[in-house]
Amino acid sequence: MTSPTPTKRLFIKTYGCQMNVYDSERMADVLAPLGYAMTDVPDGADLVVLNTCHIREKATEKTYSELGRIRELKLAKAAEGGVMTVAVAGCVAQAEGEEIMRRQPAVDFVVGPQSYHRLPELIARTHRALGQRLAADFAAEEKFDALPAMRAATGVTAFLTVQEGCDKFCTFCVVPYTRGAEYSRPVEAIVVEAERLAAQGVREVTLLGQNVNAYAGEGGLAGLARKLAKIPGLDRIRYTTSHPRDMDEALIAAHGELEALMPFLHLPVQSGSDRVLRAMNRGHDAAAYLKLIERIRAARPDMAVSGDFIVGFPGETEREFEQTLELVRQVRYAQAFSFKYSPRPGTPAAALGAQVPEAVKEDRLARLNDLLNEHQSNFNAAQTGKVLPVLFERIGRRPGQVVGRSPYLQPVHIEGPESLIGQIAPVRITQATRGSLTGDAAQPALLTA
Ligand code: SAH
Ligand code: SF4
Ligand code: F3S
Repeated sequence: MTSPTPTKRLFIKTYGCQMNVYDSERMADVLAPLGYAMTDVPDGADLVVLNTCHIREKATEKTYSELGRIRELKLAKAAEGGVMTVAVAGCVAQAEGEEIMRRQPAVDFVVGPQSYHRLPELIARTHRALGQRLAADFAAEEKFDALPAMRAATGVTAFLTVQEGCDKFCTFCVVPYTRGAEYSRPVEAIVVEAERLAAQGVREVTLLGQNVNAYAGEGGLAGLARKLAKIPGLDRIRYTTSHPRDMDEALIAAHGELEALMPFLHLPVQSGSDRVLRAMNRGHDAAAYLKLIERIRAARPDMAVSGDFIVGFPGETEREFEQTLELVRQVRYAQAFSFKYSPRPGTPAAALGAQVPEAVKEDRLARLNDLLNEHQSNFNAAQTGKVLPVLFERIGRRPGQVVGRSPYLQPVHIEGPESLIGQIAPVRITQATRGSLTGDAAQPALLTA
């Protein structure tokens, strides 16, 4: 597909999860044929899109404060006789589209995550100052069929959405309401997209889904990974986010057999207390999760495990919180994200009594983070002296430095030529911090992972 010479400037700001990052790229793809080229600053842009997140109250509030700033820029452009079109996309658009329109008149239209293929139409309507400005319905199937097949890959790694939506209804979470029911893209469409990415120099794909391991296309996620691993040039496959309930034998076995499947698994547990897990409607207890980790490590002994945690879920006692710490000590996460529980309008947990005081949440979050940070530092320190295969992605901040990732997703810095970018090369790890590794180029024969 050839695009016209860009004449209009498009600014997209992305909040939230990787699925939003993927969607923002696809929005840019949809708009390129209309003459829109990306710009890094919103000032003077012809079209501003905020791709928003609704997961916690803070995330949602960011949308409204950013819109306040965008309104100023829109007024400034109007004063010069120009027009700035402002659109709100993503999960806030889906959850509270009408409220956005009411609270911030500078917004021209809102568009929910399943309607991005309709962007050209919505822009045209806005320009003609015509009615219907709300597009927030669910039909994921239509979305993927209607988005342009060709994507512009810009780097060595890429996201690829294979599954959307969630049917799990954890009692704290908005995702089932903002992204709709679980939907899996057909295997063939994903393979075609991955082949195109590989042809453009992409060496690593991260398969995305709110419940990626619930992927229901033929062969499940394990079958899909096996297909993708055969694509020449595509050396690394990752996937995120997985749910413990959907981690099946086939996928665990694939980890033991497929070299391309990276030994890093984001498998959120949220809490170590069985009572809290039940109240969250997670569908598993702490013992089942620990058993699962054991089976995964039996298939792939060097598996790095990552997680998400919520502290201060309604009614969480000190003892129940300590059970979370206990579970963390057993799993020893390589990396993790922890959050204070944030009541979300319309979710069952928000209506529960016994909300935990803010100060208690703060205290528990700090204690949990101390432990998780200690484990992350230890995990990274344990890599020193090893020789790891590193996929180099970009130049570093210091002159002469290139940066890549280990199989365990750790950033790795070395002094080396720019020509390493796009290559997988062995690196002897010499130093580790909590956030990254440093090393030297090594001989391939020395590889220890
Ligand atoms: N589908 C994924 C994650 C979705 S949201 C899963 O099931 O694990 C990412 C993380 O945000 C969740 O894992 C959870 O830890 C956190 N989160 C979701 N809703 C939240 C809320 N209301 N308050 C605090 N954290 C929340
Ligand atoms: Fe939210 Fe639970 Fe679904 Fe994850 S599994 S997206 S936490 S409802
Ligand atoms: Fe946020 Fe929506 Fe992702 S709520 S975390 S952007 S699915």
